[in-house]
Order: sequence, then structure tokens, then C-alpha cells
Amino acid sequence: MDAQTLLQKLLSRTGLQQHHAEALRSLEPLMAPLAPEIALAFYDYLGRDPEMHEILWGTPGRVERLYRSFAAWYREIFSGVYDAGYAARRMRIGLVHARVGVRPEHVLPAAGIVQELTLEHFRQALRGSEVFLAIESFEKIMAVEMALMEESYLQALAEGLKLTQEVREAAMVGARVLLEAKG
Ligand code: HEM
Repeated sequence: MDAQTLLQKLLSRTGLQQHHAEALRSLEPLMAPLAPEIALAFYDYLGRDPEMHEILWGTPGRVERLYRSFAAWYREIFSGVYDAGYAARRMRIGLVHARVGVRPEHVLPAAGIVQELTLEHFRQALRGSEVFLAIESFEKIMAVEMALMEESYLQALAEGLKLTQEVREAAMVGARVLLEAKG
């Protein structure tokens, strides 16, 4: 399924409507400057897990690169624009994860940390009635985010299984093939 078709299904299934997109956009001035701080806290959390620590710090320069790309990802959540280009960029992140052996068991709990860090800032900075819409909108877009990443992981796995029967290897191999095809 292409990114645009999948995105439309996900927007419908999460009930993410225009007023949620506008709420996220209105939070951008508050949340975008916090992206580097959230990135630091995020990788601090991931690094406490030995397996994820090895994935992140085992390759020189990787985590430094990730501070920047994660912060850019975080800022884009609050862009208010969730179109085909957005969906394709998110699916690509899922393929990059699959290529380096990052699996759903790593990513889904990590999404919970992003939510925790974000909700804490909402709670501190927003008034009662604003908090509810902010949380509702953020949870919807995070569900879309995770589904896009997971679907691209599954696409990588399906592609890889044409080449190898080794499941863990398959997602990595398939992701490599799909990323090369995208150029
Ligand atoms: C909410 C969850 C996560 C988000 C939003 C996220 C975001 C990103 C982004 C934006 C990239 C860059 C993709 C690109 O180069 O095009 C990336 C790559 C990567 N991520 Fe994640 N990530 C998440 C979870 C994780 C977890 C749990 C790990 C586990 C160790 C991880 C490890 C990596 C690695 C190793 C790369 C490749 C970095 C490189 O060598 O350039 N990520 N991630």
C-alpha cells in the first residue's frame, strides 16, 4: 500500500481531524524549541537498555546524528501538515530502523517515553481546557506515526522473506532492498 493511501486510512481510524491538526500546529511555538531537550532525554532513556545502548553507541557518530534527526522528527509532529510527503518520510524512518536491526519491541515502548516527556510539558505550560485537546491531538498523531513506522517494517520483512527465511535477517535485508529502490 502506498504512503498516501495508508495515511488516509490512519487519519480516519484515529479520528485525526482538521481541528487536531490545527491544535498541533498551534503548539509548535511551545514545543519545537524543546525538541533538543526531548531528544537528550529520549536517548538517555534508550541508553539504559543494554541492547539499545549497543545499537546506538556501538557505531561511532551515530547517536550524535540521531540527536539532530530525532529533533527534526519531533518538530515535524507539530507542523500541522500530514500529507503524502509526511507519510513517506515517516515510512522511510521505519525502513531505516529495520535496516539497522531496530524492531517493534524497541520502538513501541520508546514511543511511550516520547508521550510521557511531551505530556509533562503540556501539563506545565497549558491551562486545563487546552491540555485536553493537546493530549487528544498528540495521542492521535503518535498512533499515526507508529502505524506508519510499523507498516514499513512489515514491508521490509515481507520483501526480505523473498530472499531469506531467517526472520531477523529478513527485515534488514528487505529494508536495504526497499531503501535502495527509493534512492
Ligand atoms: C519513537 C521512537 C523513535 C523515533 C521517532 C525515532 C526516530 C528516528 C529518526 C528520525 C531516524 C533517522 C532516519 C533517517 O536517517 O532517515 C532514526 C534512525 C535510527 N534510530 Fe530511531 N527512532 C525511534 C526509536 C528508536 C529506537 C527504540 C532505537 C533503538 C536503538 C532507535 C535507533 C535508531 C538507529 C540505530 C537509527 C539509524 C541511525 C543512523 O545510523 O543514521 N530508534 N530514528
